[in-house]
Amino acid sequence: MNREDFSMIKNDLIYFDNGATTFKPKRVVNKIVDYYSEFTANAHRGDYDISHKVDTEYESTREVVKKFINAESKDEIVFTSGTTESLNMIVFKFMTNYLSKGDEVLITKTEHASNVLPWFELEKKMGIVVKFIPLNKDKKVELEAIKSMVNKKTKVVSLAYVTNVIGDIRPIPLISKYLHDNNILLVVDGAQSVPHMKTDVIRDNIDFLAFSAHKMLGPTGVGVLYGKKKYLDLMEPFKYGGGMNSTFESNKEVEYKDVPLRFEAGTQNIAGVLGLKEAILYLEDIGMDNIMMHEQNLRKYFLEKAKDISNITIYNENSEAGIITFNINKIFSEDASKYLNHYHICIRAGNHCSKMVKEEIEVKNTCRISFYLYNTKEEIDKLIEVLKNSKNIYDIIL
Ligand code: ALA
Repeated sequence: MNREDFSMIKNDLIYFDNGATTFKPKRVVNKIVDYYSEFTANAHRGDYDISHKVDTEYESTREVVKKFINAESKDEIVFTSGTTESLNMIVFKFMTNYLSKGDEVLITKTEHASNVLPWFELEKKMGIVVKFIPLNKDKKVELEAIKSMVNKKTKVVSLAYVTNVIGDIRPIPLISKYLHDNNILLVVDGAQSVPHMKTDVIRDNIDFLAFSAHKMLGPTGVGVLYGKKKYLDLMEPFKYGGGMNSTFESNKEVEYKDVPLRFEAGTQNIAGVLGLKEAILYLEDIGMDNIMMHEQNLRKYFLEKAKDISNITIYNENSEAGIITFNINKIFSEDASKYLNHYHICIRAGNHCSKMVKEEIEVKNTCRISFYLYNTKEEIDKLIEVLKNSKNIYDIIL
């Protein structure tokens, strides 16, 4: 990994907010600039050279994504605007037909808003019942807890693979086996896992997976919905318009294209899709196992060093991913974040779009640091030093 690949990595800037979004390597930025300056054309519409080039690059991204997550077919890869849109499509365009009144969907209180609010809406609209899987003392999901919640009405379990505040890696292979033995669908929010660890939808037998490009070195405004083909075939389009139909007549006869183009109405975020391909190729060059190992080493390093800081509380010491959630004792998290900003250290403060976590950790707002492949131990040293000196916090920020 070469830190010089990232224009945003500057001497005095330490970026620990990778759970929110990530920096982009020049390779990704150059691809987007190239598209806009060398071969701008629409996709799937033109019969001229630059349009063919766009088609080839756009469709080859689907192939790259397919391999990256080990899907069976590239037809199972739908480009969306991001994880949120992908999850909304699953809930409102598949689950509305799949579920019936009284059916139960299991989630947890540590899910991100995107994996909570669509389900809550479906409960209001259809009378499904959303239930919460109890978490253990480390705020993790155990298979036994899922088993204790499953009954004949349980039809879907929808979980983040890695949660964005607790940073626990869920035992998805184990959970998946149990769910499929009991005819229950598994929806996975991959926003915080796909960028950081090897994803294998076949190994994990995942029915639907959602993730975003911008959290994995790619552009904003583009993401992926993966679904098993047999389920995508049953899903209704979210948007209707150009590019998703084969024909329509004045007698109202309409024929839609096959999956996945059926779900990509209108001009897509072509630059974004092309940028996503470069991001994936960049990640693959480094290796997802190496990225995971690097982040786990940073996590261990931070926790070891943090033992010397008496005035912080860490809420997820026993988690696995490169996410650490803490507070400086008696200091409002946003004040702590402003204080760190004074030293050009970027972290996230607040509830992190995961507003039910407070019921689990009994604190409403926290500071979160989230690592990525370009972070270093030297950056952590700087953070630790600044945290150690935080007694003067209000002299600095007021
Ligand atoms: N979901 C993003 C985060 O956790 C924005 O920060």
